[in-house]
This record gives sequence, structure tokens and C-alpha cells, in this order.
Amino acid sequence: MSLAFDLPYFPRNGLLEEVLKVYESGFKQGVTLFAPRRQGKTSFVKHELVPAARELGWQTIYVDLWKRRGEPELALVEALEATVEQRQSGLRRKLKLKQVKAKAKGPGGEVESTMEPISHSPEGVLENRLDAALTALVGNRRTLLILDEVQALAGAKRDDFVAALRTVIQKLQGHLVVFYTGSSRDGLNSMFRLQKAPLFASAMPVHLPDLGDDFIEDRLVFLAERSQAQVNKEALERVFDDLGKTPEFLNEVILHLIIANDGNIDRAMEAWQEAHREAGAGSVLSDLRPIELAVMELLAQRDHPTVYSAEALSFVQNAVGKSEVVAAAKIQSAIKKLAKLDLVAATGRKSGDYEIDDRAVLLQLRKRWTTNG
Ligand SMILES: Nc1ncnc2c1ncn2[C@@H]1O[C@H](COP(=O)(O)OP(=O)(O)OP(=O)(O)O)[C@@H](O)[C@H]1O
Ligand SMILES: [Mg+2]
Repeated sequence: MSLAFDLPYFPRNGLLEEVLKVYESGFKQGVTLFAPRRQGKTSFVKHELVPAARELGWQTIYVDLWKRRGEPELALVEALEATVEQRQSGLRRKLKLKQVKAKAKGPGGEVESTMEPISHSPEGVLENRLDAALTALVGNRRTLLILDEVQALAGAKRDDFVAALRTVIQKLQGHLVVFYTGSSRDGLNSMFRLQKAPLFASAMPVHLPDLGDDFIEDRLVFLAERSQAQVNKEALERVFDDLGKTPEFLNEVILHLIIANDGNIDRAMEAWQEAHREAGAGSVLSDLRPIELAVMELLAQRDHPTVYSAEALSFVQNAVGKSEVVAAAKIQSAIKKLAKLDLVAATGRKSGDYEIDDRAVLLQLRKRWTTNG
């Protein structure tokens, strides 16, 4: 369901303070915020982090690496170069204006241009272009660089690119701090946590705090101002829990409640699920092979075991029936396929620990389970 407008943003308790503290202490030059899709990473950046940084007098540069994830290196370099270009043309305009004014004042008032044009011939080596653009942008201003969905760079085709990024970031230490967001834990591990990871230990991880009680109360006020619906707070809390505490989904349910104007929360949840089924949450499942679907069903169980455990094997074997013998290798290839489809992701907590990121799919599976099983 695409909604015409967003419900008001609700702040993430304490997160902004935590991030700023890392930067101000100088303890780390970077901060990573990794959380599943649709949880509110970009919203936090736009509604809290960027305004706070500007208030501190920092310049902010925001680059979304997801939009061109097929060529993330080029996306980053071109975004930085475009910003340089934009700022220089802005500066040129200002200079011209000054020159005109100075000339009007009389001779001797010429303004000398201090701009250093940066060369960015498209055929230049990408690593050099990265260095030139970021160095030009930062200058000697306190700068916050935000790399949204940075795991896209984990798939960078050029081995040296991320290493070069780290080098230029380090070079600009004292002026530049970096905020990395991402939604893939595999990406997080491969970029920051493993010994041989290119950005290993260069950033401090922070956790996106769940929205709580006060958020639910805020949504109830919003609802009460716009409809006659009487909704019980505990019921709304339960729904938020079922929705994996995903604010976007709760916002959508609230809109269903406003439209229905009756306070029937079960029916609003139905409408929400229906909308997501139509948007494709269900059809993804119907395209899966039996063993893949069985693995999904396993992961939809609350407190499910890790996927290679004996318990998991027998669950999957049971689900697919006698027609196919289930072995760990088969589960492994099913998991690979499901991860590729963005249906599951490793939690990173222990090996073989996977979960379903998409709440709509998860709820759908649970529902099938309770009606069929
Ligand atoms: N703190 C919040 N208060 C209210 N609504 C929120 C909040 N955070 C997120 N949302 C809602 O959830 C939607 C998705 O959030 P956002 O795009 O920030 O998530 P994301 O984690 O960046 O997702 P993705 O991984 O897809 O980029 C927002 O458009 C907004 O409607
Ligand atoms: Mg985002």
C-alpha cells in the first residue's frame, strides 16, 4: 500500500545523544547503525541527525548507496563530485556578484578567486577521484558524511575501493566524521567486523532503540484527533509487537483505523495484511520450492532453532514429506536462495541463525500455520 502522506516522526530515545557523544569524544571517527529494512534508519538521519549536525554548524553530505547498488563505487564518487560542482557554481555566482559590487565601487576592488577547480575526468582512476572530491568538499570544515545503505559497497567490484575510502577518511580526521547505515547483517560483518574487513574497527556500532510506550501513546493521540475510533492501548501495543515494532507498518494500520473510523483493530490488521498480500508478500511464497517454503515455515516459528540443527532438519523433512530427503546441504542451498530473494537474513548472533525480515511475509506464514497446522 502506498500512502499519500507520512504520519509524524517520533524521536528515537537517546540515540542522537549516543551518536554525538562518539563524535565529540573523538573515540571513533565513524558510527554504524544497522537495522532491518523499513525500521527507520533513514528517517532518523533526516529528522534527527542532520538537523542536529547543522545546528552544531557542521556541513552534512548525504549519499544513498542503495539507489545505484549495481555500481556503488561510481554512485559514491559521482554524488560527491556533483556536490562539489554544485557548491562551486554557487560560490562562482556569489563571487561574480561580489565582483560586480566591487567594480561598482571603483578600481582596485577586484575579488580574487580562491577556488581550486577539481579535475574529475570520468576516465580518471576512481580511487583518485574519490580522494579529490571528498578532500575538496571537506576543506577545513567540520563535516558529517552519511553513507546510507553502505553494505552496497560490500559488493564493490574493485577490491581497493573501500580501502581507499578508509584511507581518505582517515586522512581527513579532525574534520570529518562518518555515519554508516545498513540493513544487511552480512554486509555489516563483511565490512566492519571481520579482521580482514576493509573498515574493520573504524566505527562504533549503535543500536536502533525500539519505539515504546510513548510512541504508542503518541499514535493514539493522533488517531483520537482524526477519528471517532476508540482503540485500546494494550491492543495497539500487541499489534505493534506482531508487526516487529516496525513504525511504518503501525502507521499504516493507524491509517486503516482512521479510514474505517470504527476502532476495530482486528479488522484494520486484516486490511493491512490484505494490502500487503496484494503488494506481493503472498505471491513470493507461492513461487518457492517445497523445501524453501518449509525453511520459511521453520523461521516463522517463534523461538525457532538454528537452520542446521537436528531439530530444524526434522521439521523441514516433516514439512516436505517423503518425496525428498532433506540434508544440511539442501537446507544450505535453500537458505542461499531465500537470502538472495531478500526473504531471510543472518542475524549474526550465532552461526545458522536466520530470520525473516519482512513482517508481512512473517505474519502471513504464521497465519497459514495456525489455519492449516
Ligand atoms: N521514528 C519514527 N516515527 C514515525 N514513523 C517512522 C519512524 N521511523 C520510521 N518511520 C516510518 O517508517 C518509514 C520507513 O522508514 P525509513 O525509510 O526511515 O526506514 P529505513 O530503515 O531507512 O528503511 P530501508 O532499509 O528500506 O531504507 C518512514 O517512511 C516512516 O513512515
Ligand atoms: Mg533507508
